[in-house]
Amino acid sequence: MAPRSCILLFFFMFLAVSSSPAMAKKRQYKPCKQLVLYFHDVIYNGKNKDNATAAIVAAPQDANLTILAGDFHFGNIAVFDDPITLDNNFHSPPVGRAQGMYLYDTKNTYTSWLGFSFALNTTDYQGTINFIGADPLMNKTRDISIVGGTGDFFMHRGVATLMTDSFEGEVYFRLRVDIKFYECWLAILSHASWTRKIRARKPCKSLVFYFHDIVYNGKNSHNATAAIVGAPAWGNRTILAGRNHFGDLVVFDDPITLDNNLHSTPVGRAQGFYFYDKKEIFTAWLGFSFVFNSTEHKGSINFAGADPLMNKTREISVIGGTGDFFMARGIATLMTDSFEGEVYFRLRTDIKLYECW
Ligand SMILES: *[C@@H]1O[C@H](CO)[C@@H](O)[C@H](O)[C@H]1NC(C)=O
Ligand SMILES: *[C@@H]1O[C@H](CO)[C@@H](O)[C@H](O)[C@H]1NC(C)=O
Ligand SMILES: *[C@@H]1O[C@H](CO)[C@@H](O)[C@H](O)[C@H]1NC(C)=O
Ligand SMILES: *[C@@H]1O[C@H](CO)[C@@H](O)[C@H](O)[C@H]1NC(C)=O
Ligand SMILES: *[C@@H]1O[C@H](CO)[C@@H](O)[C@H](O)[C@H]1NC(C)=O
Ligand SMILES: *[C@@H]1O[C@H](CO)[C@@H](O)[C@H](O)[C@H]1NC(C)=O
Ligand SMILES: *[C@@H]1O[C@H](CO)[C@@H](O)[C@H](O)[C@H]1NC(C)=O
Ligand SMILES: *[C@@H]1O[C@H](CO)[C@@H](O)[C@H](O)[C@H]1NC(C)=O
Repeated sequence: MAPRSCILLFFFMFLAVSSSPAMAKKRQYKPCKQLVLYFHDVIYNGKNKDNATAAIVAAPQDANLTILAGDFHFGNIAVFDDPITLDNNFHSPPVGRAQGMYLYDTKNTYTSWLGFSFALNTTDYQGTINFIGADPLMNKTRDISIVGGTGDFFMHRGVATLMTDSFEGEVYFRLRVDIKFYECWLAILSHASWTRKIRARKPCKSLVFYFHDIVYNGKNSHNATAAIVGAPAWGNRTILAGRNHFGDLVVFDDPITLDNNLHSTPVGRAQGFYFYDKKEIFTAWLGFSFVFNSTEHKGSINFAGADPLMNKTREISVIGGTGDFFMARGIATLMTDSFEGEVYFRLRTDIKLYECW
């Protein structure tokens, strides 16, 4: 079987036909789905506790977490949970939340890097869209990648064009987001009448792993596998902050096991970060990799996505892989299998790859 034929079966529309780079340049790509949305970021500045939707959680030496640092904010990391609206009015009814982080990454101009998700609940669409990319803020428009999605955006890919639509000092900005999907898969078939007609999407590979996170709490330096490295102005780095840990940024290197026993022989490491991104409820955003070095698996799998922890199961995107998982894409379903206070949790990870090479 040709390596990609299995996946082509399941495309609703797939316009980016593989071709030589020269051909690719000439081809006119047409989006299979388009959306325009706005989101609104109100940065905590020490005075606007009630309506701030974002907080600085890390800053370079000598800077603090209530004012964006000098040097074009270089080194500041902010975590956000912003309302999404259909028009540019901050007070319009939100149709979802933009949750994630941005960090300022140049010393001589304003540029940032973004990792975030849209969790949408509009009349037309339900699901999440995951974005990653560089945001050179001085450009009028900036393109970032859409690396995956869930629900109505299952496995979608595309490009989003950002435009700063408005800003007020260093407290408020509004971004217009022009979303263009170039790879659309079948929407989740929640309507019973459709289910019978259209064949189910079948994964080309399914895997189940567990990983174990022991958060440093000032006393367990010996067996901690994760540490808080960024916290909002009202928190610190030994105890997860109040307000549902909003703003805590945690880096981890966790053992992966085949069963739910922490003491089983690890088959690899889960390495990356998560941060808590909502004040009202426990939700997080994840960027991490599984790095395998066992007889069964060699290589890595890369994940990104929103993790609304209160859901029994949560779907994030598998955005790529290497080695045995070369170029893989798919969906990973997370389930909190166990937790002990705020020190230990275990996640069951059901990986379903829909694109296998
Ligand atoms: C935040 O709240 C303050 C006081 O309630 C208000 O003056 C300000 O306009 C609000 N900011 C935004 C962006 O809505
Ligand atoms: C943070 O830094 C700014 C500018 O240096 C200063 O005006 C402000 O008082 C500082 N805030 C705190 C809470 O230290
Ligand atoms: C989505 O919106 C509908 C209508 O506003 C609401 O009833 C429903 O609870 C929302 N779902 C989620 C998951 O927020
Ligand atoms: C920023 O603008 C420059 C010049 O207009 C353009 O070449 C570049 O692709 C833009 N970057 C992004 C990420 O959109
Ligand atoms: C961490 O180590 C301590 C002391 O060795 C032990 O009591 C504790 O159970 C360990 N925690 C986990 C989650 O294994
Ligand atoms: C961190 O905050 C917690 C709770 O507010 C407090 O008990 C603890 O002493 C603080 N730790 C440090 C190192 O400041
Ligand atoms: C993978 O495991 C083998 C055998 O344990 C070891 O020799 C090798 O250094 C490991 N490779 C990496 C990249 O960790
Ligand atoms: C969380 O649960 C809600 C309601 O069950 C669902 O609509 C939403 O898609 C789930 N989110 C994720 C990321 O799985």
